[in-house]
Amino acid sequence: MEIVTLDPHGMCSGVRSAIAKAMSHGGAYCLHQLVHNEIVLGELLALGSVFVDDIEKVPDGATVIFPAHGVTPEVRGRAAAKRLSVVDGTCPFVARAHRAARRFSDAGLPVVVLGDPSHTEVQGILGEIADRRAPRPGEKIGVVSQTTMNADEVAAEVARLREKFDVAGVAGICTATKERQDAVREFDGDAILVLGSRNSANTRRLCEVARCPAYIASNMDDVVKLREEMERYGKVGVTSGASTPERFFESAVGCLRRIPQHVAIIMDGNGRWAQSRGRPRGFGHAAGAGTLMRALGWLGDRGIRYVTVYAFSTENWKRPESEVSGLMGLFSTMLKSKASELVGNQVRLRVAGRRGDLPRPLRDAIADVERRTASFERQLIVCLNYGGRAEIVDAANAAIARGEPVTEETFRRLLYVPDVPDPDLVIRTGGERRTSNFLLWESAYAEYHFTDTLWPDFSERDLDEALGDYSSRDRRKGGLS
Ligand code: FPP
Repeated sequence: MEIVTLDPHGMCSGVRSAIAKAMSHGGAYCLHQLVHNEIVLGELLALGSVFVDDIEKVPDGATVIFPAHGVTPEVRGRAAAKRLSVVDGTCPFVARAHRAARRFSDAGLPVVVLGDPSHTEVQGILGEIADRRAPRPGEKIGVVSQTTMNADEVAAEVARLREKFDVAGVAGICTATKERQDAVREFDGDAILVLGSRNSANTRRLCEVARCPAYIASNMDDVVKLREEMERYGKVGVTSGASTPERFFESAVGCLRRIPQHVAIIMDGNGRWAQSRGRPRGFGHAAGAGTLMRALGWLGDRGIRYVTVYAFSTENWKRPESEVSGLMGLFSTMLKSKASELVGNQVRLRVAGRRGDLPRPLRDAIADVERRTASFERQLIVCLNYGGRAEIVDAANAAIARGEPVTEETFRRLLYVPDVPDPDLVIRTGGERRTSNFLLWESAYAEYHFTDTLWPDFSERDLDEALGDYSSRDRRKGGLS
């Protein structure tokens, strides 16, 4: 199966700006769905945002976010009467359609509105029209369409209207939506996968304009379920609706190409590598640190979003003091010297483990790099003073302190990096075939790849071998394939 990513796809600038506004007011009231995308709404819910379907349900004086699809003038008036602090997420194209409807209406023209009458955007446009009378034959009219409509359908409808009326102006179609539809229409493959929620009008429209079978996937579960069906086709195009987050797009493409989104590595064999060269073990750790930086580049080039490495276990304190202090010094030096490389490559550093027991200078260096890289999406999770059992015990104690019974889902949220998805692939170098207390909870369904290569020698070729091995696995996760 050849996967072709269609361009342009995904979020338009209007949606991006609405989401940025809503995220920066996390916890505020959102009138209706900010955008029709379940992933975005889930993130806002996690920030404490409250969704209401009626402006009257927002307490007086509170902050309310208007959706990207816009609101009626009546709702704006009610928000002002309630002294609400309004954050307007209305997309500029929707606002333009509103202004056009108002202009036609103010000029005394009957306005024909094309679109789904139950959609909030169309209700907002209708709200701008003072006199909603039906036009008489031959009369001058204005036409406004829902911004996400199929441009060809609008053109055909306008041609029909011209046969009966004098069409003075047409407004509505959003160019970003049209460009995404054009890319789908021009795709000459065997099937198209459209990523987005089923209640998103522009997502459904992308399916309608396709010249080959088209499928919708709203989340990663859908993608995994559809993957086998997609594999029946030779050339599959992937696109996404205007409110679909890009990271879902990347994860879905990775899944279709059978690339893991999260790779975890047990970097074993530094000591033996050094000893075989007659050098101290610390020499091997320093070489291993270099390999890690190179591997990060290769993993990034292959679209792998999360990388977790086992750098120091809760059991490693048992090593000679000189090796332990050498490692602590190496971690501090690496963090300081590679911080700008991580920033330049837009990689977020996170440390998982009992960091309270680490030396103070190292803790300070970690806090500094974590802060400088906090906004990046790609992530490097370094397990330091980490043990899988310790992590589970720490989470269990946090649950006891809360005094609430846990489920697998709520327990997962108490682990060190709760928002990072479980690893898909765990690579262990250095010839041993055991898990050594690494990610015990998170790797329940991970695939394992073992290689005899010692970590300092791990090459791009070794990585591709591991990814090839992973792509051949049938990941049933307890179900039947
Ligand atoms: C296991 O090999 C390796 C470690 C305990 C240390 C890993 C650390 C690095 C690669 C440095 C990474 C740097 C940062 C900043 C994260 P081993 O010593 O057990 O090797 P052996 O099995 O041959 O003795």
